[in-house]
Amino acid sequence: METIEALLTRKSVRSFKSQEVDEETINTLLKAAMAAPSAVNRQPWVFYVCKSQEVKNAVIKAMPFGKYKSPIIIVPCIDESRAIPFMHDLVNCDLSAATENILLAAHALGLGAVWCAVYPDKKREKDIATAIKCKKGETPFSAIYIGFPDDEDKSKVKDKYNHKNVVII
Ligand SMILES: Cc1cc2nc3c(=O)[nH]c(=O)nc-3n(C[C@H](O)[C@H](O)[C@H](O)COP(=O)(O)O)c2cc1C
Repeated sequence: METIEALLTRKSVRSFKSQEVDEETINTLLKAAMAAPSAVNRQPWVFYVCKSQEVKNAVIKAMPFGKYKSPIIIVPCIDESRAIPFMHDLVNCDLSAATENILLAAHALGLGAVWCAVYPDKKREKDIATAIKCKKGETPFSAIYIGFPDDEDKSKVKDKYNHKNVVII
């Protein structure tokens, strides 16, 4: 799929077929994630790919607005050891870029995905860390539910372009 077409046709998908996502596809998603820009190229991330039903259930339980059933959930986490100490909050920009790359790559591959917020909710960060058993020094940033879109998903792509949001100077 052409890049601009992918950008303009992506939408959040919250309902999935039970069809598995194969290893090669998952690797492509992870490559896309790690191709994202990051401040000073620190790449302050680690990606947990949740496939086991037990772990997915624990993630879903911890996510008040992410109760979706999908074949995989990717949880991008901040690797705090690679954050820039005097500009720590840049990690949130880095992880956002990686999360968006996963959404776009998923769409380009015929999958559907939705970004669910973990950051900036401290309780959710803690609960997801427990669910995925991530290491000390790793902070869950988002939870991305991914799979083949269910035929039942009738949500439309929204045209969100608004000239009022543009200032030409
Ligand atoms: C930072 C962020 C947090 C989000 N959190 C949730 C969430 O917790 N649950 C959910 O269903 N969707 C979540 N979304 C998806 C948005 O609801 C969705 O992107 C928005 O409604 C626009 O729709 P679209 O993605 O189809 O264009 C989140 C999106 C972003 C960028």
